[in-house]
Amino acid sequence: MSFNIAIDGPAGAGKSTIAKAIAKKLQIIYVDTGAMYRAMALFMIREGVDANDAAAISDKCVEADITIGYENGEQVVYLNGENVNAYLRTEEVGNMASATSVQPAVRKKLVELQQALAAKNDCIMDGRDIGTCVLPDAQVKVYLTASSEVRAKRRFDELTAKGLECDFDKIKADIDERDYRDMNRAHSPLKQAEDAVLVDSSYMTIDEVIEKIVGMCRK
Ligand code: DC
Repeated sequence: MSFNIAIDGPAGAGKSTIAKAIAKKLQIIYVDTGAMYRAMALFMIREGVDANDAAAISDKCVEADITIGYENGEQVVYLNGENVNAYLRTEEVGNMASATSVQPAVRKKLVELQQALAAKNDCIMDGRDIGTCVLPDAQVKVYLTASSEVRAKRRFDELTAKGLECDFDKIKADIDERDYRDMNRAHSPLKQAEDAVLVDSSYMTIDEVIEKIVGMCRK
């Protein structure tokens, strides 16, 4: 049986940074499920599908073949054979992903892919529904969060460091809106699994969070 770590939590809690570091430390693969939802969102944007058109999203998602691979230790997402990593991390794609991921047809397709990956590989997988739906039997489950103020500040600093103009209040409003949608959707909403350990990273360093989770794995 493979060893699986599930990390869930809201946008900007640091899941991917932490999960990547732990994967490296434990020599297991990192599966970024948000990137799969983002690839699906990119497909919908390219096809001109409206974020609120549920029927069109359900119909179109069958045309998107999403797979993942690893190049130099990095996860690469392929959308109909094309490496789309470079297009996934924009606010536009993130917001579209939050809207399209409410559709059951989209979730079913991507959850099956995620479960197949976890059955074959020791992995750390992050997302919103990993501990609750995708990997209910994961050996380690973490719910990683931070206050929305802190998460918005981290995003603001990240964009500013890249030399991009941004507005703190707008970033925080987007985070609050995305949290609301992710936590209140009918299918697989973001919530802490009963057997997940809550880690609030608001006042922790990245290394402290990594150590805490690695410690849980060693137990
Ligand atoms: O983690 P992220 O920001 O890359 O995720 C993008 C969107 O995808 C997010 O708003 C919610 C959705 N998502 C999901 O519904 N289930 C997952 N397992 C991962 C992401």
